[in-house]
Amino acid sequence: MDKFEELKLKAKEEAEKITSLKIIGDVKAKFIGKNGEITALLRGMKDVPAEMRAAFGKQVNDLKEKVSAIFEKKESELKAAETEMKFQKEAVDITLPGKLPEIGSLHPLNIVKNKIIDAFTGMGFEIFEGPEIDTDYYCFQALNIPKDHPARDMQDTFYINDNVLLRPHTSPGQVRTMENKKPPIKILSPGRVYRADDDASHSPMFHQIEGLVVDKGVSLCDLKGLLDEFVKVIFDKDTKTRFRPSYFPFTEPSVEVDVSCCKCGGKGCSLCKNTGWIEILGAGVVNKKVLEMSGIDSDVYSGLAFGLGIERITMIKYGISDIRTLFENNVSFLKQFNRR
Ligand code: DAH
Repeated sequence: MDKFEELKLKAKEEAEKITSLKIIGDVKAKFIGKNGEITALLRGMKDVPAEMRAAFGKQVNDLKEKVSAIFEKKESELKAAETEMKFQKEAVDITLPGKLPEIGSLHPLNIVKNKIIDAFTGMGFEIFEGPEIDTDYYCFQALNIPKDHPARDMQDTFYINDNVLLRPHTSPGQVRTMENKKPPIKILSPGRVYRADDDASHSPMFHQIEGLVVDKGVSLCDLKGLLDEFVKVIFDKDTKTRFRPSYFPFTEPSVEVDVSCCKCGGKGCSLCKNTGWIEILGAGVVNKKVLEMSGIDSDVYSGLAFGLGIERITMIKYGISDIRTLFENNVSFLKQFNRR
């Protein structure tokens, strides 16, 4: 009986010392495995006197059950501790702010383009998009720029052959519209244009928006009114416009339109080169020859037209000094325009 008690205590002691589930099986086997001490007791049954054998066998089996229970208890304690550790390791701090998913933003050129389109569609303009590869006729001749006319030097054009070219401006949109639509006409023609030009303020590919209004009694006053309204939407409500005489073969009279500097409000700063004004677009009253060439009776109808560069307006609006930053797709630059 002492031997039984001793074995039980020994099993208890050894079980207590176990710190890992990995060795528990081995320690347990030392007692109740095939070669364990308690198993050996059963094997020694044959030496027990016959009348005591039954009682002895019962005692050994009791002991075996008790020792087995000791190890089972230990095993479940270790398992629980291990699970607890795992939970702690993988714990998530639910009080931390969540990670926001990355959301893209519109490119600054699209932001400005959309604003311009909004401003004019609000005044009843429709959108017309023409082809980027166009003919000499639509890009020049129908705009009163005959072959070999010096005004062709105003644009450094990429020619594909003598007759086909990458449009150097969106003005052919005027001609295509007038050929297909009867007045009243009120269209906006946005799109890519191409010129052999490349420096901090010129890009071989850039974007323009053309505007054309043809109706009875349209005059330079209407142009002034339209553009006054437009600049207030694009810049701010105190922005003023100024017309300066200019020359374009497709308009007569022609003007360059300046806006009061959006940075200094007209006092003079580096952006406006101390003049208080910034040039933003070309415009004018549509040349009668242009109306006639596209089949519109210039004795009945008159028109006004304007053309602006989206890059130029974007650079002025956001204070961007190099046009190339608009095409580099540098994410840190573009993220500044995320309006979330
Ligand atoms: N097509 C001209 C350019 O690219 C811009 C322009 C000026 C368009 C006057 C017009 C206009 O419609 O009336 O420089």
